[in-house]
Amino acid sequence: MIQEIARLREEIDSFSFNSKDDTEQFRLRFLSKKGAIGELFARFRNIPAQEKRDLGAELNRLKQYAATLYEERLKELESAETGKKGVHEDLTMPPYPFVTGSRHPISIIRNEITDIFSRVGFTVSEGPEIEDDAHVFSKLNFAPDHPARDMQDTFFISRNSEIESSPDDILLRTHTSSVQVRVMESEKPPIRTISPGRVFRNEAISARAHCIFHQVEGLYIDHDVSFADLKQVLLYFCTEMFGSGTEIRLRPSYFPFTEPSAELDVSCLLCGGKGCNVCKYSGWLEVLGCGMVHPAVLEACGIDSKEYTGYAFGMGIERIAMLKYNVNDLRLYFENDVRFLSQFGTAL
Ligand code: DAH
Repeated sequence: MIQEIARLREEIDSFSFNSKDDTEQFRLRFLSKKGAIGELFARFRNIPAQEKRDLGAELNRLKQYAATLYEERLKELESAETGKKGVHEDLTMPPYPFVTGSRHPISIIRNEITDIFSRVGFTVSEGPEIEDDAHVFSKLNFAPDHPARDMQDTFFISRNSEIESSPDDILLRTHTSSVQVRVMESEKPPIRTISPGRVFRNEAISARAHCIFHQVEGLYIDHDVSFADLKQVLLYFCTEMFGSGTEIRLRPSYFPFTEPSAELDVSCLLCGGKGCNVCKYSGWLEVLGCGMVHPAVLEACGIDSKEYTGYAFGMGIERIAMLKYNVNDLRLYFENDVRFLSQFGTAL
């Protein structure tokens, strides 16, 4: 029996206590009535009297040793557990910071553009991102062999022929000008609307180009709308968006759906026109395309071009955001890196 006592002592010493469950296992194994020590006590009754004295003392020592160890470990593990709970229950602890999100810069600029135009009577209209050729190209006066209709530039979903385009080819819209077609088809003038939305082009992703980006299209159709009206509304927009001292200039350009067409520049926001590396020392920054709606477009959309005239303009939201926030890599807008996004604070 003396050997068994020694063996149990070894087992007790090598028992590992990791949780309260372990202390219970320990109690059952050694200290309960049917446990290993209890069993030795049961057998103790039957051994010869002369051996009893020494063995009894050994057995009692073992029992005492195991019981003390059990009490100590139980206390330690219990206090570790309440300690853990205390982190959450101690109301004097400083709180975890509650991180609120902020609006994406593209949303901030889109809302700002919408706001500026709605103050002068423009409504907001939307159209589908999956479009047909008619709304993206044909009705906007793109010639059947216009390069924009090429697979290289446009994501097609279904195409009737590899050789020539057809008005019912299905594709991802490459510009929000498609929405002006939808509005003209379904509404009668006067029409005064802007159409913000996502557009898609088959471009390799770089600092200056992306295959998904955002545009806002503007359209105004009424009796006697003139180029002077266009110039005025764009001056209003640019001074609201970029600040009251902002100057604009219009350069002749070409778009199939407008005649005449122009591109609008604003005086450089950074150097005020003196020349710096942002404006490549020209003093001007390119902002948008615009022009008078081509009579062929009005007719294709069911509006009498002898009775009505109109202007249209289209701008890239990323472009405006880059100019306003002085961001030089387009990819930052799509990566959702909080270190970038959190800089735009809580602006709505
Ligand atoms: N749709 C043109 C583009 O994606 C932008 C544009 C230019 C829209 C001139 C217009 C416009 O309405 O008049 O590049």
